[in-house]
Amino acid sequence: MAIKIAASILSARFDRLGEQVKEAVDAGADLLHLDVMDGHFVPNLTMGPVIVKAIRPLTRVPFDAHLMVTRPQDFVKAFAEAGVDDLTVHVESDHDPHTTIAAIREAGVKPGIVLNPATPFEKAVPYLKEVDLLLVMTVHPGFAGQAFRADVLPKIREARSFIDRNRLRVELQVDGGIKADTAAAVAGAGADILVSGSGVFPDHVAENIARIRKVADEAARGRS
Ligand code: DX5
Ligand code: ZN
Repeated sequence: MAIKIAASILSARFDRLGEQVKEAVDAGADLLHLDVMDGHFVPNLTMGPVIVKAIRPLTRVPFDAHLMVTRPQDFVKAFAEAGVDDLTVHVESDHDPHTTIAAIREAGVKPGIVLNPATPFEKAVPYLKEVDLLLVMTVHPGFAGQAFRADVLPKIREARSFIDRNRLRVELQVDGGIKADTAAAVAGAGADILVSGSGVFPDHVAENIARIRKVADEAARGRS
């Protein structure tokens, strides 16, 4: 199956966010990745439902919201109403992931579970029958533009083989430091969806997406 690319608008120019969204969509981004940070779970503040709602009418490309917040359960309804298609929540947040995942599903949105680089794969296992997405972080969350952590590659391979062995309907997403030079390793390790922020925005969006797609698809073909 072809690799999907989720363009993270955190690295877009916010003074012309609408144009940047359209550039990514026109360049064939499969998803738009929305990084939500609360200044508490991570030391940065980004966007909330107001921004999501503002850009929702611009495209039908799915909105993939990544909640880096302490209490994700408090924001499910607001993001669902703003029009996101999936919501991924950290296993490290302060909640019962089973309950939050059920609430996301109940709101008509696809749920996903996220693992920080230091969190072992086993922590995701109890939720994998309940989610549509597993997101493995390859940077510590909080900021775009950080260096890719190759030490997480074994966890991506472990997740791929677990999903396949158990025939789970879970897409494996990887986020952090993915650009044309790291995309092959991530796709080769078994990712289905590559998130890229500074590898896509703000300039040469079409070229950046095309280059990531090319190396990722080559690596994925080599895998099967
Ligand atoms: C990091 C965010 C990422 C980030 C990716 O906390 O979750 O989605 O925007 O940006 P790059 O691709 O620049 O690492
Ligand atoms: Zn993210």
